[in-house]
Amino acid sequence: MTPSSKEAIAERLAEARLRTLELIQPLDDAQLNRVYSPLLSPLAWDLGHIANFEELWLVRTIGNREPLHGELGRFYDAIENPRKTRGELPILRDAELRSYLADVRERTLEVLDEIEIGPEAEDPLLRDGFVYELLIAHEQQHNETMLQLLMTVDGYEFDAGGGLRDAGDRSPGQMPVQLDRHFEYPPVRAIPRVPETVRIDGGSFEIGATAQEFAYDNERPRHLVELAPFEIDRTPVSNGAYAEFVEDTGAEPPMYWERDGDAWIRTAMGRRDPMDPDAPVVHVSWHEADAFARWAGKRLPTEQEWEAAHPDLQGAGHAWEWTCSDFLAYPGFEAFPYREYSEPFFGETYKVLRGASWATDRNVVRPSFRNWDLPRRRQIFAGIRCARDA
Ligand SMILES: [Fe+2]
Repeated sequence: MTPSSKEAIAERLAEARLRTLELIQPLDDAQLNRVYSPLLSPLAWDLGHIANFEELWLVRTIGNREPLHGELGRFYDAIENPRKTRGELPILRDAELRSYLADVRERTLEVLDEIEIGPEAEDPLLRDGFVYELLIAHEQQHNETMLQLLMTVDGYEFDAGGGLRDAGDRSPGQMPVQLDRHFEYPPVRAIPRVPETVRIDGGSFEIGATAQEFAYDNERPRHLVELAPFEIDRTPVSNGAYAEFVEDTGAEPPMYWERDGDAWIRTAMGRRDPMDPDAPVVHVSWHEADAFARWAGKRLPTEQEWEAAHPDLQGAGHAWEWTCSDFLAYPGFEAFPYREYSEPFFGETYKVLRGASWATDRNVVRPSFRNWDLPRRRQIFAGIRCARDA
């Protein structure tokens, strides 16, 4: 790998870190340590976990350095420590936490200087800079998790470097804020209440990440699937359509919706903004998405259908889209770089989400990306797109 690509990696690492620090810039230490919800980690845990993941995979595994804080790493293990316990853990806080982030980063850059990375690298972690792509994507994905929590922080406002700013008339989405180029969402024309559908002829489709690109183990290997003909909505379900469903069935409104007379308002971040009926609905659980689809006389797409139809879909990237698929290993799956990334989650417990949300860094977005979560989760930025058999 040439020095200039090392420079490019260092620059991207710095950019991801800047975004993390900008997100927490308006908050004080007490807010970073506070447990806002048992469903979400305190921000201090996310921050320490970001640094610890970097220390583990780069500084220790690649750079062979001793850990900076002995056994501390076990408190940042996401599987060992369920979210509801994280506020009680003896994790790093305040000034110590900030220096840990900085100290690990300093060592990461030292290691970057020492090693050879490139297509020829013997260690698969280093080949094509895999471990660096992993670190950058990991930090960016935790930014989205942090934003899930920030939605619940009353009065949260972000203005560093023009990072988060008002989305003006909010017509493209229902979000109270729009992040800068790291978190931009594609412009979407008003979503029709009754969406146009696209017919996809049945046949063989290639699913999964190609060998050349950075991807997680669960997106591989690329393989062929047979799909029966189906129809899929060109656009996601709008707030207006969802409001009709709520009124018709008495279903719970999405998270952060509150009734105000005849209208709905959005209450995220303690604000009271009118709900935009033409924007995609966000913050619904899988159960709610499934119920909506049935109410509309349709169903949720499978994740294979979603990926096969991906070039024809509009308005993806505002909210993750629930699919009816369980999170399962692709045929021929091999865990990499560690068993715990995907494998413990395979099975019937988790449902797959496809696409991306407004809070997803565009660096993370690719058609083969598989997000997964519990079907009851509503605090994630998840919405709905419907399909049906053709
Ligand atoms: Fe993580």
